[in-house]
Amino acid sequence: MSAVQTRTIPWSWYTDPAVLRLEQERIFRCSWQYVGCQDDVAESGSFVATRVGEVPVVVVRDEEGTLRAFLNVCRHRGSLVCEGSGRRATLQCPYHAWTYGLDGKLVAAPRFSREGRTDAAELGLIPLQLDTWGPLVFVNPDVDAAPLAEFLGDVPERIRAAGIDLAALRFLQRAESELDANWKISAENFLECYHCPVAHPGFSAVMDVSPEAYLLEMDGGRMTQHSPPRPEPRGDYDPSGEVERGQFHLLFPGTVINVMPGRANFSIGPILPLAPEKTYRFLDYFVAKDADEAWIEESLAFDAQVGAEDRILVERVQAGVRAGLLDEGRLMPESEQLVAHFQSLVVNALG
Ligand code: FES
Ligand SMILES: [Fe+2]
Repeated sequence: MSAVQTRTIPWSWYTDPAVLRLEQERIFRCSWQYVGCQDDVAESGSFVATRVGEVPVVVVRDEEGTLRAFLNVCRHRGSLVCEGSGRRATLQCPYHAWTYGLDGKLVAAPRFSREGRTDAAELGLIPLQLDTWGPLVFVNPDVDAAPLAEFLGDVPERIRAAGIDLAALRFLQRAESELDANWKISAENFLECYHCPVAHPGFSAVMDVSPEAYLLEMDGGRMTQHSPPRPEPRGDYDPSGEVERGQFHLLFPGTVINVMPGRANFSIGPILPLAPEKTYRFLDYFVAKDADEAWIEESLAFDAQVGAEDRILVERVQAGVRAGLLDEGRLMPESEQLVAHFQSLVVNALG
């Protein structure tokens, strides 16, 4: 077994704007991120404006039905071109009306030829990498980055093996949140269940969070936790159903994928830095089409409870690490091995 890091990365990395700038440049600008589902842009001309890391992105369905992603920045003076979502024949910048086709080409701009410009062909919206996993859409701002399949690894196979057919699920809701903590603290909190018996009594009454049952695995950018339900689960959530075990993945840097035991279910969403000490997250929830309302309500409430408990935990960590008198913390070599792995990925990425 390789030596496990038992010291954390420097705590200054959770508050330093220079570190966040580097992370945006060297991590988020060249990483895949889940942005939404194909149904959000079902018809030709429909678009949705979003972000990958801090990069503004617009996802469009073109006339041929192909999904495309562009940098949502006007080639004229840099305004955001699209906001929110909608359906248009062209994408028109609201500042001076430079107008782009659904293929990104600049098709019209007031006074363009009158003032002698002939370079329209060079001034299209910048295309970004887009790919799909079933109904799920992912974007990577780096067109040279390795393909989505490499990023996902064997997660799609693991989801299938759990008896979940993503195409057969229905979208339930998007839950958004903002946390007063660095994005890495949110990710690291997701990556260990050492805190579960202490801080998640409801979760731990349903799931077996003992070190013997709760398994941790990692493979490159994929960090996975598996957990069976307790033999006799107590509490507010019924984990019986076609899915036998929980699986919780983090795909570096911040795409979270959850499956709970119970009826077929799936949730996915990114962890994104807004500022050194502020994080934005969303989770899109999907469930079996025939799951009954009572179960759905129970499972969303169960997840919301864990989320509320985690918010307090990560914000308390942020308040501690920003104190400045201590330089670093310690990690448990087994229970927190995924945190150590995540931190090593950050260190490598930042060089
Ligand atoms: S900035 Fe977009 S048209 Fe001028
Ligand atoms: Fe937690």
